[in-house]
Amino acid sequence: MTTSFKGFSKIFLFFTFFISLHSFTGLSMEFQVGGDDGWVVPSKNHDHYNDWASRNRFKVNDTLKFTYKKDSVLVVTEEEYEKCRSAHPIFFSNNGDTIYTLDRSGLFYFISGVSGHCERGLKMIIKVLEIESPPQSANQTTPSSAKSAAATSNYASFVMFIFSLFGAILFV
Ligand SMILES: *[C@@H]1O[C@H](CO)[C@@H](O)[C@H](O)[C@H]1NC(C)=O
Ligand SMILES: *[C@@H]1O[C@H](CO)[C@@H](O)[C@H](O)[C@H]1NC(C)=O
Repeated sequence: MTTSFKGFSKIFLFFTFFISLHSFTGLSMEFQVGGDDGWVVPSKNHDHYNDWASRNRFKVNDTLKFTYKKDSVLVVTEEEYEKCRSAHPIFFSNNGDTIYTLDRSGLFYFISGVSGHCERGLKMIIKVLEIESPPQSANQTTPSSAKSAAATSNYASFVMFIFSLFGAILFV
């Protein structure tokens, strides 16, 4: 009982540590798109990749790793995503092992360039979170409650970071 609890708390601490490291320090992360299966036409769930994306949080400068065989990765506009085709993709790669850097906040639309694959679910929308930054200018219209909420959230993630750092050092 005790051992498994310790094992669990170790894993938990590691997990908290890396999550808070990610959100607090702004280190960029690499995501393996779709997990171990990589970038392949999903066998059952048509929303497989958007489900995967919704389970992750993406920041500016994080990277996506696409692994596939005899396929391709295109970054396209929203309209082209809906139509599942693009004559002039924003980005194209078919080398089987594509690293794509999310270089701005906002939405990215990915599709497969192989005929029929996008229609069968090989497509994905990625939402990259806004960069947390101080207000653009000294514009007094920003409600002070919003400011203090942001400050509190930064403070909370800092405390979590320190806590998990100590936890990691003490218990491992
Ligand atoms: C992303 O990386 C670029 C180039 O390394 C850097 O100039 C930029 O500040 C980074 N942006 C963020 C939000 O970390
Ligand atoms: C404050 O915001 C308003 C509306 O967004 C804008 O018109 C104004 O120029 C801003 N003032 C400054 C000092 O940035």
